[in-house]
Parts: sequence; structure tokens; C-alpha cells
Amino acid sequence: SLMVPCVQELARQPITNIPPRYIRADDDRSIAVFHGASTPSVPVIDLQRLLHEDPLNSEMVKLHSACKEWGFFQIVNHGVNAFLLEKFKTEVGDFFKLPYEEKKKLWHQPDSLEGFGQHFVVSEEQKLDWNYIHIFMETELYITVVMSSMLIFTICCRETLEAYSLEAKNLAMTILTQMAKALGMKTEEMTQLFNDGMQSMRMNYYPPCPQPDIAIGLTPHSDADALTILYQLNDTEGLQIRKDGKWIPVKPLEDAFVINIGDIMEIVSNGVYKSIEHRAIVNSAKERLSVATFYNPKLDSELGPASSLINHQNQPVFRRMPLQLYFEEFFARKLNGKSYLDFVKIENA
Ligand code: SIN
Ligand code: FE2
Repeated sequence: SLMVPCVQELARQPITNIPPRYIRADDDRSIAVFHGASTPSVPVIDLQRLLHEDPLNSEMVKLHSACKEWGFFQIVNHGVNAFLLEKFKTEVGDFFKLPYEEKKKLWHQPDSLEGFGQHFVVSEEQKLDWNYIHIFMETELYITVVMSSMLIFTICCRETLEAYSLEAKNLAMTILTQMAKALGMKTEEMTQLFNDGMQSMRMNYYPPCPQPDIAIGLTPHSDADALTILYQLNDTEGLQIRKDGKWIPVKPLEDAFVINIGDIMEIVSNGVYKSIEHRAIVNSAKERLSVATFYNPKLDSELGPASSLINHQNQPVFRRMPLQLYFEEFFARKLNGKSYLDFVKIENA
């Protein structure tokens, strides 16, 4: 990755025009954004209701259709400790308030996804997102290997980060188990795939932007992982998902997490659940902060449609391949701006 200017620092200066690299002519502006009273809203799932199902299974039905039709939902009544969330929010916020010189010490190394900075920058010409500051880390790794890493201590106190990451992982496993039920997939097949899985985290900071209409906070993409848990740290809107040919804003809901299906879950569910394109936009008035946690099977797993979902009527629509190969292909294609899910699809399936 190349070093590029820090958007957080850029945004501090009294500029009225953003530098050319942030002007996103490549963004398809012909796609309308839903607004007004008729804007559909992402389904909201009540976890307690889902776990203590009523005879009609209505919350399970809602979960299933959210994963099929939207690829996104918000989860409330999730049981994650509110005090911990408050602490986590404060500590992450404080990190981004540190002087630039301090944060720069955590600059990510070339070829590493961990650290402060903008990742996946491969050329001097490449257009940039108005979201300079993000951090990626393998949360599994930090617990065992890089516990003493400055990154951890500077962002949050270790206990908070560890506790958050554990809570998020438990939530992911709970949701995955419910998805298995909704799909009619063997629960053990799901848990076997994800037990001791890989978990990573990205913290996003989007400063106010003087020209929000021509910039983009996060380029449209679908997530490569299985399940993403997004925690929005303030009530600034920004996330939009693409549905029925339009962008639909996801309104931050207090005490909720945004959950989305990633490409791996689309594959595991044999295409029943959808990994949906989404992006983050910016605005001229307010900063926005979010933390995304990504869940994946163990690296030595084989990726493919769940065998308990495949039968005579339901033929596989994706090939099987080692998960490691899938990730190699993902990173190679990401740098080339190519869609990579196509290479997993079985033609004419
Ligand atoms: C994402 O991780 O794709 C969304 C991030 C955000 O909403 O800030
Ligand atoms: Fe994403």
C-alpha cells in the first residue's frame, strides 16, 4: 500500500474544494437515493423474541426473509452489555481524537492489513474514499500473539476490546445458529464451520466533507466475509444499501447492531441468502464513526454450499474450494477492481 494524505487532517483545514483524488466521477450517480416518507426501512429483528420463539415462529420468518430479500437487518434486544458498549464507544472515539502524530505511530506496514491508514491503495492515480482512518486487526490474533501491540493499548484498553470482541463473537454464533434453523440447514454443520473461526475488526472514521456530493465515504462493495456486525458509534447517517435499483439509507437505531450477509454466507446458503452491495456516504456537518466486525470460518475450512442444503431439488450453485484459495483470489481481484464472486459461481447453475 502507498502512503496517502490523512483525510482527518485534510478535513481540519479550511478547504472548500476537496483534492481531485477524492472526486468520485467513477461513482454511478444515476442510481437514485430513496428519500421521504415512503423510504423502505431495513427489517428490525428482536433477538429475545427470536430465541424464545412463539408458536407462529414469526421472528424466524422475519429473519429468513430479511436475509433473502435484504441481506441486511438491524438487531435489537441483543443482550450485549450496555455499559461495555458505552465504554467501547468512548474509547474508540478518544482514539480518533488523539493528535495525528500519535496515530501515525500506528501506521500500517506495507502488506499488512493491521494498522492505521487507508488500505488497498496500489497506485498514485487511484481514487480515494473520504474515510482515511481505519484499522484492521485480527481480533483472534491480538488475544494470543500481539497482545502487547501498541495498536491495542492506544485504541482501547485491552479489557474493553477483548470483551467487545467476545460479545460480538457470541452474538455472531447465536445469529448463525438461528440462520441455520431458518435455512433448514443442520445446526451442527453451521457451528462446525464457524467454531474457532476467524474474526477481524475495522474501525472507520469519516470526517465532515466540504463537498459531500462528489466524494464517497466508502466505495460500494459487498462484504467478502460470512457475517458482519456493524456498530454505529453515533447517530450520523451514512450507510446505504442497494436494493431494487436504488440506494436505501440505513437509519442508525439506538442500541442496535446492523447485521449483514457476506459473500461467504451467500455461498454457504447456496445463494438463498444475499450479500448486498452497500456504501457509506459523507456529509458536510458531522463526523461519523463505525466499527465493523467480520466473521469467517477457520482458514483451513472448505468453502462451499452447506451439504445439508443440497439434494436432488437443490443443486449447488457455487463450487467448493479451500477457504484460503478464496481469500487469495479475493485480495488479488480486489486490487484489480474485479468482481470475485463470479469465479466461485457454477456457470448455468
Ligand atoms: C461497511 O463496513 O461496509 C460499512 C461501514 C459503515 O457503515 O461505516
Ligand atoms: Fe461492508
